[in-house]
Amino acid sequence: MTGDLRLGVNIDHVATIRNARGGDHPDPVNAALVAAQSGADGITAHLREDRRHIRDDDLERLMAALTIPLNLEMAATEEMLEIALRHRPHAACIVPERREERTTEGGLDAAGQGNFLTPFVDKLTAANIRVSLFIEPDPRQIEAAIRLKAPVVEFHTGRYAHLDGEARANELRRIVDAAALARKNGIEPHAGHGLTFENVAPIAAIPQIAELNIGHFLIGEAIFCGLEASVGKMRALMDHAR
Ligand code: PXP
Repeated sequence: MTGDLRLGVNIDHVATIRNARGGDHPDPVNAALVAAQSGADGITAHLREDRRHIRDDDLERLMAALTIPLNLEMAATEEMLEIALRHRPHAACIVPERREERTTEGGLDAAGQGNFLTPFVDKLTAANIRVSLFIEPDPRQIEAAIRLKAPVVEFHTGRYAHLDGEARANELRRIVDAAALARKNGIEPHAGHGLTFENVAPIAAIPQIAELNIGHFLIGEAIFCGLEASVGKMRALMDHAR
């Protein structure tokens, strides 16, 4: 059973473990299938320019095997654009990979890149791929997303995840306000990065947020309790917070 808040499971770090030995185990595609059976509404994978975890053939196999939507995280490069247009995943989330593409906090600096992102958003959208921009919960970045006509933004929750006490409460307020601002402007807000069993509930409770993308913690926790239980517990915490 899934609630109205979707869970996207990021399987990158299954590939990280596989690549540590250079073989084909553990297989991120198998992990994606287990996640799908355990309450994931979508699968997220980041094909990095250096292929440090997910590789091109993983993407091909994911596209062939999945019956739930694939969200491809990608840098705004010609190479990644060509790959996305060839595979046509359900969604593509544009993320920063180089320092100069980031805001000080870590999201994509959509506001500071002028018209650079326009052809990426336009070409992905024309291919029926739902474009998302991974940005800080900052009104300037949301304004850039509006200007670029991105249908989705994903708020970077890394700062929220790493803070505590009053500082975390302040960052949560920034995310709450940003989610409301995005919705008011017709943009669907998502959130992700650094989310865990301990910190997910306040983010899941934000009514405008439609999707959380969670990876590292779920894969790490699977070492102790298995992937099915790890995804299932996250799903239950999200549904309970809603
Ligand atoms: N969303 C985006 C856009 C990301 O780049 C990442 C990290 O790859 C995540 C979500 C998931 O973050 P984490 O692995 O910390 O859960």
